[in-house]
Amino acid sequence: MNFGVGFSGGEADDELEAQIHIWKHMFNFINSIVLNCVVELSIPDAIHEYGEPMSLSALASTLHINPTKVQALGRLMRILTQSGFFYIKKFITQNDNEEEGLNSLVDVGGGNGTMTKAIADAYPQLSCICFDLPHVIDGIQETANMTFVSGDMFKEIPQVDAILLKVLS
Ligand SMILES: C[S@@+](CC[C@H](N)C(=O)[O-])C[C@H]1O[C@@H](n2cnc3c(N)ncnc32)[C@H](O)[C@@H]1O
Repeated sequence: MNFGVGFSGGEADDELEAQIHIWKHMFNFINSIVLNCVVELSIPDAIHEYGEPMSLSALASTLHINPTKVQALGRLMRILTQSGFFYIKKFITQNDNEEEGLNSLVDVGGGNGTMTKAIADAYPQLSCICFDLPHVIDGIQETANMTFVSGDMFKEIPQVDAILLKVLS
């Protein structure tokens, strides 16, 4: 009888599938906590009543969010966008970007950089790094504000303003 975690012969694909499975369960609780916040803050009503795509600063102002909490609201909205509850019409304006003081981001375990590139394209002022294991990112094309850095996230990751850790959609 075998009660292992499902690696057959140590194949890389099986190991990756197992990692994805564990990570999904580890982070599953986040969506329900975030949804609870969203309902309590009446965010869907605020966006609906606004009648058009709403910037983060407009949303914060409508909800009378304390200016010191606007960054937290931004993080909340990013999680909701990531989980498909909202979508981003236009990520951010240059002014919003400066207000948030966000100049650099690393997508840890970013794979082939699909998500990193989407962010880099939407935030031209932001320096984005796709960080992954060497064999995953070798030879992938960089852009003006998107670079690839190889390494082991359990040892060290690049020092930046924001860290993205996403496990598939
Ligand atoms: C489930 S994939 C997620 C890919 C991407 N973030 C997404 O959501 O589509 C996990 C990624 O983590 C990378 N990874 C696994 N162990 C790593 C480590 N120790 N250091 C850096 N990256 C690692 C894998 O190569 C893989 O690209």
